[in-house]
Amino acid sequence: MIKFDAQNSGIETDVTSEEVSEKLKKIEARGQGFYKIVDDSVDEILEYASSVEGKYDDIVVLGIGGSALGTICLQQALKHLHKPKKLHVLDNIDPTFLRELDDVVDYSRTLIIVISKSGGTPETLSQYFYFREKCENFVFITGPTGLLRETGDKEGIKMFEVPENVGGRFSVLTVVGLLPAALIGIDILALLKGAQEMRDKFLNENPNENIPYQIATLQYLHGKEGRNMTVMMPYSQRLIRFTDWYRQLLAESIGKTPEVGLTPVSALGVTDQHSQSQLYMDGPDDKFFIMIKVEDLGPEVMIPGDEVDYLKGVSFNKLMHTEQKGTTDALTHNKKPNVTLNVPKVDEYNLGALFMLFEGATAFLGEFYGINAFDQPGVELSKKLTKELLTGSEA
Ligand code: PA5
Repeated sequence: MIKFDAQNSGIETDVTSEEVSEKLKKIEARGQGFYKIVDDSVDEILEYASSVEGKYDDIVVLGIGGSALGTICLQQALKHLHKPKKLHVLDNIDPTFLRELDDVVDYSRTLIIVISKSGGTPETLSQYFYFREKCENFVFITGPTGLLRETGDKEGIKMFEVPENVGGRFSVLTVVGLLPAALIGIDILALLKGAQEMRDKFLNENPNENIPYQIATLQYLHGKEGRNMTVMMPYSQRLIRFTDWYRQLLAESIGKTPEVGLTPVSALGVTDQHSQSQLYMDGPDDKFFIMIKVEDLGPEVMIPGDEVDYLKGVSFNKLMHTEQKGTTDALTHNKKPNVTLNVPKVDEYNLGALFMLFEGATAFLGEFYGINAFDQPGVELSKKLTKELLTGSEA
């Protein structure tokens, strides 16, 4: 299981179990299901995945925001980093992005999964209208009402339901993330097991056991001191899309008033040491760092050659770990508050735990700030204005 190291967090926290309990009650009162759904049966998903096995060469997801980012992360984290992808997630309407799919798939052997909880997101609907002219194989994942639901009913399309009480960006552990994952051979039961174990920590009133609470406390306290940016920096190529998933979760959940918001910053070790570190080390003291160390980076790969003394007999695995420690120590030396999550390895179990860890931390953060972390009025406004511009009603 993931371990949390907060010794360089820069703030001594003194939290009681009563405080944790009080925030848990507030979260419960919001009626959200993100921490409950991990116990739901996934039989229907597994049965469907096995019923279509061998039938499709490519899986395409049409969706945006919370309907796409978790799936993109699952693929990056758990599938081969270089082999051609079987799963294509189209989370943009850039026509080039849509058109060029023609070059890599045979639509007669492609399954398209349209994901929209509201069933009315214009980007996703227009993608569906475009691809239904090319492909006949569809599955919809949507809420109980909306245009997509009506179309699915009319056309007799196989549909799965997004639980009503789970918002888009909290939905990766529902059918939204689990169905595409199962279709590309990801072990969704192991994913849920990791999530369940972290959920138990999230519900633990003992603050020393509750990693989500500890992280949220530090983010909140640092935010009060002007450190309004959270930099998430995993030392693993597999986790770069996890930071994108988290970017949405933190931004959309907590950015709610001119006074309340934390800006998520995505960084990758070691790559961004040569792109962002200068700013992190010597720039403004406005950031809190979450470093992610992955203990097991896979089979040891040695660095050959003997021209450079300090690289002799060293593996890439060791170099990665050493650079992670070097960067973390340098942050501490420069008085830049940081914590480290030690993740045993990037697999289904630990990824499930990571999703739940940050969903839980974000829910706690909402209660620290006294805001609703589960709505997104700003996103709704831009959707409305786009529709008005297209119909000319703004003139
Ligand atoms: O987190 C959210 O609620 C949003 O990012 C949504 O996921 C996004 O706007 C897409 O909405 P929908 O799934 O209704 O198409």
